[in-house]
Amino acid sequence: MAKLTYLGHSAFLLELDGKRIVIDPFITGNPKAPVKVDDLKDIDLVVLTHGHGDHLGDAIQILKNNPKAKVVAIFELANYVAEQIGDPGRAIGGNMGGPMLVDGLKIALVPATHSSPYGAPTGVVIMGEEGRVYHAGDTGITMDMKLVGEIYKPHIALLPIGGHFTMDPVEAAKAVELIQPKVAIPMHWGTFPVLYGKPEEFKELVEKKCLPTEVVILQPGETYEFSFK
Ligand code: NI
Ligand code: MN
Repeated sequence: MAKLTYLGHSAFLLELDGKRIVIDPFITGNPKAPVKVDDLKDIDLVVLTHGHGDHLGDAIQILKNNPKAKVVAIFELANYVAEQIGDPGRAIGGNMGGPMLVDGLKIALVPATHSSPYGAPTGVVIMGEEGRVYHAGDTGITMDMKLVGEIYKPHIALLPIGGHFTMDPVEAAKAVELIQPKVAIPMHWGTFPVLYGKPEEFKELVEKKCLPTEVVILQPGETYEFSFK
């Protein structure tokens, strides 16, 4: 079984096809983080959607703590992070195009409508035998999500719902309609007061659309297990 553990905000630990992957590991300064940075051991990949502090987070420390781990992100961001750890060889920098082939997985960077201090902001689809997971990063709604759904057919979509910087529950529910995943999990909510979007509201809005998508609300520290083999 693959496992997806919510670390609060937009941070996840994804255990897929035997690989341990952290996505947007904002732990230090994240009031909802259920783990400490040093608890993240045996990490294979650190995947980043963009360079804002609440997503880049503790990536550099995690890479220092896990000497075999590589950073996967858009070219400029991956290289920036690898420079900080003094090991350019651990950067897997790609761009929005076809997927990168990484450790037996396919990882596609996809458009996000947002900003970033290092390269363009992205979402990411991580594809393995056990399933395909789309982490939308920080983004507003965009028709590109329809293409993400059609081309990569993600089983699970992790969508920001907090509003202010990203989609709120209204846009995120529409995004579910465009993507048509089997499971949608809200993220980027509840961390700071400015993020007003509530996961229950998102769930209700999706359910009203009568889509074949189940909304799963994870609290920080909770794990969703799956296998879509
Ligand atoms: Ni951001
Ligand atoms: Mn953010």
